[in-house]
Amino acid sequence: MLTSRLRLRAPDEGDIDFVVDMYSRYEVVRYIGRGEVQTTREEAAERIQRYRSQFGPSAGVWLIEEQNTDDDAAVGFALLKPIPFSEGIEGEQDVEIGWHLHPRAWGKGYASEAAQALVDHARAQGLKQLVAVTHADNAASQAVAARLGMTHQDSTDRYYNTTCELFTLDL
Ligand SMILES: CC(C)(COP(=O)(O)OP(=O)(O)OC[C@H]1O[C@@H](n2cnc3c(N)ncnc32)[C@H](O)[C@@H]1OP(=O)(O)O)[C@@H](O)C(=O)NCCC(=O)NCCS
Repeated sequence: MLTSRLRLRAPDEGDIDFVVDMYSRYEVVRYIGRGEVQTTREEAAERIQRYRSQFGPSAGVWLIEEQNTDDDAAVGFALLKPIPFSEGIEGEQDVEIGWHLHPRAWGKGYASEAAQALVDHARAQGLKQLVAVTHADNAASQAVAARLGMTHQDSTDRYYNTTCELFTLDL
């Protein structure tokens, strides 16, 4: 997938160094999952495998690359995938959109540009709604959701066995 400045593609083993570099930084992981850095090549390889396994007609975890760079083109990940319900929650599966960028690529509009491409992709695939969830303190991520035109619904316990801020977008 191409945007004006970026290319989105499936990650592979050649991206291990980038994944180690990015997810070993506290400022990247502090609001993701358990907020723990990952520093080993084994963890990076597992993450790439997990991301690769999530590709489907309207789902995936794409590596984001700058188009106009030869070396170190990778800048982060953008995702579209079924979001796990918290224990005890049942219902129709919701689809999550998300974004993780390397700090050297923050402040350039790359997360919003990549995510907009996934919104367009989701719409083209016939999806009717996307959700995004963020930690209450993750203002940078909430700003991306707002730039995409998502609506802030409130906090929710529906997903990931935790409390998050919920954003939705009708497609
Ligand atoms: C969340 C995250 C992706 C946001 O990154 P970001 O760079 O702030 O977001 P965007 O890509 O939308 O960029 C917007 C910024 O780029 C600036 N910008 C510069 N050039 C731009 C351009 N051409 N187009 C649009 N925005 C541009 C905007 O002014 C804005 O800066 P500001 O926040 O200082 O006002 C980033 O903080 C991150 O990766 N955090 C760690 C992982 C994480 O928490 N992910 C979310 C989990 S829910």
